[in-house]
Amino acid sequence: MTAPSARYDLTGRTALVTGAGGLLGRQHVAALVDAGARVVVSDIGMAQADATIAAVMEIVPAADLVPAVIDVTSQAAVSPSTSSSTTRRSIRRSPLLPA
Ligand SMILES: NC(=O)c1ccc[n+]([C@@H]2O[C@H](COP(=O)([O-])OP(=O)(O)OC[C@H]3O[C@@H](n4cnc5c(N)ncnc54)[C@H](O)[C@@H]3O)[C@@H](O)[C@H]2O)c1
Repeated sequence: MTAPSARYDLTGRTALVTGAGGLLGRQHVAALVDAGARVVVSDIGMAQADATIAAVMEIVPAADLVPAVIDVTSQAAVSPSTSSSTTRRSIRRSPLLPA
């Protein structure tokens, strides 16, 4: 079987994972890092995002991960114009996500 990283090269791209502190979110972050992406690791609380970052960096110390607090039920939180400056910068630099 071909490793995902061989099929999907996301080097130079940024992905945004919501609910990244959860079981599935953490796996998605790890898969995106494996494919070379910079990942905005977002959750409703910073503690959850930080826990995922710590877990992934234990396996891939050089992973390019940006923590962010985003409540997906909040229009203001998911809007690039009102989200945190770190998240805004990451989104603006991303060819995958709208500015
Ligand atoms: N785990 C599975 O096997 C599985 C299978 C099918 C469907 N699902 C569904 O997929 C989703 C995620 O599953 P999971 O196992 O990762 O759940 P989880 O409970 O482990 O993780 C959910 C994450 O979402 C975060 N979260 C909650 N409310 C939020 C909000 N308003 N904004 C942003 N983040 C928020 C939580 O803090 C948590 O870190 C759930 O809806 C689940 O029902 C899971």
